[in-house]
Amino acid sequence: MNRTKIKGVGHYVPERVVKNTDLEKVMDTSDEWIVERTGIHERRFGARFEESTTMLAKKASEKAIADAGCQPSDIDFIIFATLSPDYFFPGCGVLLQRELGICETEIGALDVRNQCSGFVYGLSVADQFIKTGHYKNILLVGAEMHSMGLDFTTRGRDVSVIFGDGAGAVVLQPADKGDSSEILSSHLHADGRHAEELAFINPGCHGGVHGNKDKQGYSDNEWDSIFVTQKMLDDHLLFPYMNGQFVFKTAVKKFPEVITKALKSAGKSPDELKLVIPHQANLRISQFVQKLLRLRDDQVYSNIQKYGNTTAASIPIALSEAVEQGVVQRGDLVCLAAFGSGFTWGSVLLHW
Ligand code: ACO
Repeated sequence: MNRTKIKGVGHYVPERVVKNTDLEKVMDTSDEWIVERTGIHERRFGARFEESTTMLAKKASEKAIADAGCQPSDIDFIIFATLSPDYFFPGCGVLLQRELGICETEIGALDVRNQCSGFVYGLSVADQFIKTGHYKNILLVGAEMHSMGLDFTTRGRDVSVIFGDGAGAVVLQPADKGDSSEILSSHLHADGRHAEELAFINPGCHGGVHGNKDKQGYSDNEWDSIFVTQKMLDDHLLFPYMNGQFVFKTAVKKFPEVITKALKSAGKSPDELKLVIPHQANLRISQFVQKLLRLRDDQVYSNIQKYGNTTAASIPIALSEAVEQGVVQRGDLVCLAAFGSGFTWGSVLLHW
């Protein structure tokens, strides 16, 4: 059985910086409210009509591929995690393959829909493929272009102030003999009972079956499309919904659980961790988790202050920055952990 290592890493965030004070101009919010509740000072928004989730992913991927010392044509499988895909279908994996100019290789491209946990889920999948020798150069990307689909009016302020755009990518390869870098374990979890507590429900193919039993707003004509309806537009239902307090309470329970599980499975203790890279959901969540696990400030990486919550991209962006800044060196024990919509959550423990 092979061991898997992350050979290359890279990230890209759009140039446009959007400060909390910029949001104050379009909705009833304040810098104080946002900083106090989330820790976020600013985020990046992609350039409309020029950038998309796939275009951000392309830039991060090119950096990760170069960092791994290989060419796009060496990639033998793509895994793409996002909740803000360019198209409803096909997924971003094939669009990224095209943007990287490697369609002739006809490599497989898999799209992962696990929102904030997407990168951790993707890493676990990639690990299995590398371990079994199925692939030798997997490109895993987490990318989001949230800014195109948020409600930037006061109505949507509880959600829209949190999210930002960006992309992060890694290249996974089999570890060489004697290599100190390897993925040690992954733990993936889900609880679908809370699917609608953090969700982007419309448009969709649900026809109201999970709640709207009286078919309110749907056409009686069985040949009409009910994917998107006028009522959805009129009632401003084409935006994400979040039960913030419930998400907070569950996240601060599940993050420590899954990090502890990762450590236990490897016979390690929290003080042996060089760094925990939590999904950058909310600075208050990370601080809560840090306290519960009795971790020092330098053991928990946070960059949500400048990028907001970039969902599937947040862990690879943070990992890429931590490596760039020398916070993490080869061989260091690192735990990546995520919690999000689904609910889904998970952790990956590795020696960087
Ligand atoms: N600016 C100003 N006021 C706001 C804003 C805003 N952006 N958003 C909501 N408010 C108001 C509300 O309308 C409410 O006003 P009211 O008291 O007059 O009714 C008041 O602020 C308090 O609202 P709450 O929703 O109770 O605020 P809370 O203290 O719970 O904070 C928050 C909201 C920040 C979302 C919090 O619940 C939280 O941190 N939840 C965790 C969810 C999270 O971080 N998700 C990240 C994405 S999911 C993920 O990645 C896992």
